[in-house]
Amino acid sequence: MTANILNGKELALSIRKNLKQQVEVLTNKPCLAVVLAGDNEASKIYVKNKLKAAEEIGIETSLFLFDTDVKQSELENLINKLNEDKKVNGIMVQLPLPEKIDEKAILNLINPVKDVDGFHPYNIGLLQNGSDKAVIAATPKGIIRLLENTSIDFEGKNALVIGRSQIVGKPIAMLLLNKNCTVTVAHSKTQNLESLINQADIVVSACGCPKLIKGESLKQGAIVIDVGINRIDGKLCGDVDFESTVNKASFITPVPGGVGPMTIAMLLENTLIAYQKQNKL
Ligand code: GUN
Repeated sequence: MTANILNGKELALSIRKNLKQQVEVLTNKPCLAVVLAGDNEASKIYVKNKLKAAEEIGIETSLFLFDTDVKQSELENLINKLNEDKKVNGIMVQLPLPEKIDEKAILNLINPVKDVDGFHPYNIGLLQNGSDKAVIAATPKGIIRLLENTSIDFEGKNALVIGRSQIVGKPIAMLLLNKNCTVTVAHSKTQNLESLINQADIVVSACGCPKLIKGESLKQGAIVIDVGINRIDGKLCGDVDFESTVNKASFITPVPGGVGPMTIAMLLENTLIAYQKQNKL
């Protein structure tokens, strides 16, 4: 068996093309404000890619840059200003923020209707309720789209989520539960991970452990979603050992070109939805 490759790059491109057509007919364009504080090199690249993708589809952007020693009050003042600004439809604060900043306090300040990352407790609560009004965080939303593309029947499937982050692990677990999967969330303290992997029909790995998942541990025909972005000797690799897994899984996302491009496409989609809500469209 050779797994089908879940091509996130291709799917993201078609979503972006569709979003572009929807933005083209709008007289006032949606506007996304992006906040980047500190000098995390990966964050700088992510932000650059997000801004480029937004502009390509006609979303206006404004970037707010701060040094590592930015004060909590400076960031809070900016968020308050962006909340008030009628021109701004979406606010995205790139994480992680510098160590001294109270990240939760910043995210909690964002007006939930402008929270295009879906990190505000209001949106997390709506997701927990299974409400279709929730803003869903971009990466888990993108993963669900990739899974839907396999035509899998989610009902009763054993889904294993490895990693319990606010950004990926917890929301993807909730989304899979809302789709009637039987969900297990594993993390750094989990025992017998191998046996959990072996029972899973769907594995979503978001733990940042290079090549943690090997083909021999997997159930035959499992669907494997690799959210990891790691480097070994400078070379990009995921949490999944692609070479051994490709002969065991039925579907697998590549790194790069799997989940990453979907995250960007979903951020753009969330920005357009925020614009539509704010303009009662
Ligand atoms: N850092 C890593 N992933 C993300 C994301 O999806 N959104 C934000 N804001 N920061 C991140």
